[in-house]
Amino acid sequence: MPDYLFLMESRLPLAQWQVVSQVQKAAEALGMNLYLVGGAVRDLIGGFPIEDLDFVVEGKALKLVRELGRQQAPRTQGVGGEVRVAWRNEALQAAELEFPSGDVVSVAMVRAAGDSGPLRSQAIPATILDDLRRRDFSINAIGISLNPQSRGLLLDPTNGVADLEKKQIRTLHPYSFVNDPIRMFRAVRFRTRLTFTFEAKTAAQFQNARESKVQEKIPGEVLAQEFRQIARETGPAEILKALEKEKLLTVLSPRLQGPRVDWQGMARASKAGQGLAVAGLRVRSFPLFLYLLTSKLPPRDQSQVAERLRLKQADRQTLRRLAENARRLAKELGGKAAGTPTKLYQLLSAAPPELLLLVLAEYPQAIIQTRIRNYLRKYLPLRLKLPEKELHELGVAPESPRFRKILDLYFYALLEGKVRTKTEQAKFLKKLVQTGK
Ligand code: CTP
Repeated sequence: MPDYLFLMESRLPLAQWQVVSQVQKAAEALGMNLYLVGGAVRDLIGGFPIEDLDFVVEGKALKLVRELGRQQAPRTQGVGGEVRVAWRNEALQAAELEFPSGDVVSVAMVRAAGDSGPLRSQAIPATILDDLRRRDFSINAIGISLNPQSRGLLLDPTNGVADLEKKQIRTLHPYSFVNDPIRMFRAVRFRTRLTFTFEAKTAAQFQNARESKVQEKIPGEVLAQEFRQIARETGPAEILKALEKEKLLTVLSPRLQGPRVDWQGMARASKAGQGLAVAGLRVRSFPLFLYLLTSKLPPRDQSQVAERLRLKQADRQTLRRLAENARRLAKELGGKAAGTPTKLYQLLSAAPPELLLLVLAEYPQAIIQTRIRNYLRKYLPLRLKLPEKELHELGVAPESPRFRKILDLYFYALLEGKVRTKTEQAKFLKKLVQTGK
């Protein structure tokens, strides 16, 4: 049998492993039983990249959250520091935390079957095995104990490991999709992302549920949450295509099918997103995702989609303004407003990354493409190599407004090619300090 502690330690990135240790320590101090569950365990065993960590405890999860706050590691060299509570729900005993490393972690109290509906309002006490059995698919229903007496013990009451080996998605009871129809979308998402198949009975259940149109009953907020998750995937277009093939996209609008979806535009956007990611800009804009998905629909149908998803006003406004803002940025990019490297840098660094992505995807003009590429491939990497250490050694306090200002002036001189050699650069930096900039 594999050693799951070893697997965790060797497969989790260091920051995530430290998060596991920190949560484990807090639970131990309270004498609470703690388990790592859900997607992290699936991805750990399946050999897939591990994203967010989900923990469950047998007991009050918010007590553990408070303990984590108390046990905060002191911040040293970028490690440790404050754990931010993104949201907490006292009645459900669940919370989402963000660790200083950027790792997002959910902590919840174990729940029983019948307590798993998406809009449930109160937690019923249960055991870890009850909690695993109430989950969507066997591959998501595996836990690893993080308790002192059984640390590393695998809990797999529904034989999820075997399904991971067979590369198949299997529900845990016949009415899984009917009782929680968002699972139909989740099933297609996991099947596409992991390149798995549906187990025979699961495939039949899926088809029956779809024919009964249970997907129409999914509350807007739950649907929006799922589409947000799709938007965060590495290959959202593949998942949308799979959903379209299953006739599930029409849940947003009856017209959202076939040529009414701009697959080519989405492919261009995905390529543009990769270019931005290489430069360290990760675009996770839900309005942009919806814009791309619905761009070929008439305005009335677009509003219907926003309505179906119960989209917040702020998101609706961003969505409405995206095309117009992209048009404006593209125009500026093609003209004098971006005529020098400094102007180009200032223009693009002030623009939200989702606009950059949209302009890259929708405006093929060479001047626009080249300018954005220069910004991403030359200017941004250059910005990361500014002589902060040298400036500090020259006596300017880091994080002071003067420090920032001198670095900006130095950077613009670099962009304009005014200081080329190392000696010229060192001299220029000294001059900026001495002239009291
Ligand atoms: N879950 C469930 N039914 C749902 C939603 C979630 O049973 N309708 C359970 C599954 O066990 C899932 C866990 O809650 O693994 C966490 O859900 P979520 O964070 O949405 O998905 P992950 O499985 O972690 O997948 P990923 O984050 O990789 O998309």
